[in-house]
Amino acid sequence: MTAKQKRSLGPAPLLYPEPALLIATYDSNGKPNAMTAAWAGICVSDPVSLMVAVQPPRHTHDALIARKAFTVCVPSEKLVAETDFAGMASGKKYDKFATCGFTAVKAEHVDAPCIAECPVILECLLTHHQRIGTHTGKLSKSICKI
Ligand SMILES: Cc1cc2nc3c(=O)[nH]c(=O)nc-3n(C[C@H](O)[C@H](O)[C@H](O)COP(=O)(O)O)c2cc1C
Repeated sequence: MTAKQKRSLGPAPLLYPEPALLIATYDSNGKPNAMTAAWAGICVSDPVSLMVAVQPPRHTHDALIARKAFTVCVPSEKLVAETDFAGMASGKKYDKFATCGFTAVKAEHVDAPCIAECPVILECLLTHHQRIGTHTGKLSKSICKI
């Protein structure tokens, strides 16, 4: 099949696979919060950096910019229901750590909580953020903990 024979779906955010990650932050009251994010990935090798795209209305958005820190917690299959909930409910209204039964442990290197139940955690320092249309792309230096 040639490129010309392909059918265009128009401009759409269609790129797979997408991860299901939990972005954890402390909010302005110091309360730990977690948000599900699929739009994230590695983007720079030196300094080792990843990018997350977070919409400004999210509770996580302001916390992340205020503290300049967050963790990317990679959930296991056992946490599917909790990861779904963290992507539907906002920390503006819910204590998602309590509802999901997550244990908040202060990150070793950054001002953000880790979700102890997640098998892999990236501790991230916010280095850049750029608003483009509906999302703010956030670039961070990260340290991996397993
Ligand atoms: C599977 C899944 C992936 C998501 N990915 C993103 C994302 O990449 N960026 C984003 O801004 N919101 C994303 N969301 C929506 C947020 O997780 C959702 O709005 C959440 O309630 C925000 O929580 P907060 O207000 O406590 O920060 C996703 C939701 C789900 C269910």
